[in-house]
Amino acid sequence: MVDQGLATDEEVQHCVDLAKEASGSGDANQMSLARVLVDNEFVTSRQIARLRQLIEAERSGQKIPGYQVLGKLGAGAMATVFKARQLSLDRLVAIKVLPQKLSENPQFIERFYAEGRAAAQLNHPNIVQAYDVGKANEYHYFVMEYVDGRTVYDDIVTHKRYGEKDALHVVIQIAEALEHAHSRGLVHRDVKPKNVMITKEGVAKLADMGLARAMSDKDAAEAEAGKAFGTPYYISPEQIRGEKEIGPPADIYSLGATLYHMVTGSVPFDGKNPSAVMHKHLKAELVPPDHVNPKLSAGISEIIEMMMAKSRRRRYGNCRDLLVDLREVQKGNKPPIAHRDVVSTATMADLAAAEAEAPSEVAVDRSGEGHAVNPALFVTLCVVAAVSLVANLLQFLT
Ligand SMILES: Nc1ncnc2c1ncn2[C@@H]1O[C@H](COP(=O)(O)OP(=O)(O)O)[C@@H](O)[C@H]1O
Ligand SMILES: [Mg+2]
Repeated sequence: MVDQGLATDEEVQHCVDLAKEASGSGDANQMSLARVLVDNEFVTSRQIARLRQLIEAERSGQKIPGYQVLGKLGAGAMATVFKARQLSLDRLVAIKVLPQKLSENPQFIERFYAEGRAAAQLNHPNIVQAYDVGKANEYHYFVMEYVDGRTVYDDIVTHKRYGEKDALHVVIQIAEALEHAHSRGLVHRDVKPKNVMITKEGVAKLADMGLARAMSDKDAAEAEAGKAFGTPYYISPEQIRGEKEIGPPADIYSLGATLYHMVTGSVPFDGKNPSAVMHKHLKAELVPPDHVNPKLSAGISEIIEMMMAKSRRRRYGNCRDLLVDLREVQKGNKPPIAHRDVVSTATMADLAAAEAEAPSEVAVDRSGEGHAVNPALFVTLCVVAAVSLVANLLQFLT
């Protein structure tokens, strides 16, 4: 309690004395001390519950065989992260320990291991490397590369916002990380400022690859909502709708929301509670980033708007395209893909027509299934094409 700034040493000592008196036996156990503290209004029972959680988390990290825990790095909505030394290799690592509550859910654990294995296959300078998963004393944990640096969230808190150049430098690296993961079939699903770390050398690294997938978006949103500062500011509309096939465009949307926050200093949609924010992701029109911060180039604004299009079909379909635009804007040019989208209404009309005919969404690659082609139709089309070619040639010659 003293560490957390909830009470002074004297106040706690006073309550220890009261608890001893109350128990009559001369020693105060933790239970009666907690009651005395609450009864005397030094803390609320909610604060006691929170303290218990903290203590549980600290203890859970103490005993992981093969690792020496050095201290706590931070805590998110659903886990605590410790800095540790991996004894066998004598290197620093970060260990994420899940709370016992999640460890009791067999479905979650199965996905946690599956995604851990998938993430461990990835190897990229802009992805926090996954090393190991395991279980010790009823706690499941995830071991990863230790990043000596800060998160983009920390930077936003300190400086309010990034300059356009610095933001582009970070976002290009994260788009490269996502491109690498997506091309290997992994979608992050929780891209946000707290999951982008910056090393002392200025290298951006995407954290928690593969971890968000283990949890349903509903659980994740609820876990976030339970935190005083956590609100689904960066989640994609399709994740809010609970769609089954969540693909690369979901990460592109979240990266767009992150970039929006980085360059404007404000989250794209705010509201008094998580459901109000989520409703806006689904329905509200985005205030263009260059209206919030007039210093921004039109190019970066167009890119963000395309990243955050509510309909996946209007968004970048993959990070390769996104990177083309980001790199052009970095060189001071217009973003060729987003800009075409803005100026060319004809192209938009063509796109809309093509969309109307295309199947609504192709999120999974079913390349094995193939498409049956009617041979008779194929021959007929070839004949028609040949006749038309000859007719055109004749017309041209005469
Ligand atoms: N690999 C890592 N190296 C160093 N610090 C980390 C690492 N992963 C996470 N952290 C720190 O731990 C904090 C909590 O992480 P996490 O549980 O993933 O929650 P969140 O991502 O919501 O902040 C992060 O905000 C970050 O400061
Ligand atoms: Mg994280």
